[in-house]
Amino acid sequence: MTNSPPEGFDGAGAGSDSVDSVDWESLRKHARDIMSRAYAPYSKFPVGAAALVDDGRVVVGCNVENAAYGVALCAECGLISALHASGGGKLTAFTCVDLRGNLLMPCGRCRQLLWENGGPDLLVDTARGVVPMSEVLPDAFGPEDLNR
Ligand code: THU
Repeated sequence: MTNSPPEGFDGAGAGSDSVDSVDWESLRKHARDIMSRAYAPYSKFPVGAAALVDDGRVVVGCNVENAAYGVALCAECGLISALHASGGGKLTAFTCVDLRGNLLMPCGRCRQLLWENGGPDLLVDTARGVVPMSEVLPDAFGPEDLNR
C-alpha cells in the first residue's frame, strides 16, 4: 500500500506547479464550496480547504467539530484523508478559506500534515501572496528525520 513518504519528497522535479500555472480562483471556489459543508456548530467558524494533486486531481476538506471540543477535525485533516482515499499523490497547491471566503493560514498541526504530503515546494495561498511551504513551516521536521 501507499504508506511510505511520497516520491520526490524534496520537492524537486516532476509534479510541481509554478505559481502562474495554478488557477487559484478555481481552487478558491472549490474551497468555498466545501466550506458550506463544514460542521462547525461550536465555533461557528466553518472552514474549507482545497488542493491540487500532482496528477491534476483536486482534493477538498471541511472542518468537522465534536461535542468533545478538542477532537475537532480541521478542514486540512479532511483534505489529507481525501487525498489518500482517492489514490494518494503529492499536493502541489493549497488554499483555505473561512465563512467570508477570506484566506486562512493553516494551524500549526495542519502545517505538519501539509508538509508531509506536499513537501517544501507546495504552493500555499496566503493574504501576502503565494508562498512555498518551506516559508510556512521553516525548519520542518519530516520523514527524512526518522532515518538519521
Ligand atoms: N480550523 C481549520 O479547519 N483549519 C485551520 O487550519 C484552523 C482552524 C477550524 C478548527 C475549528 O473547527 C475552527 O476552525 C475554529 O478553530
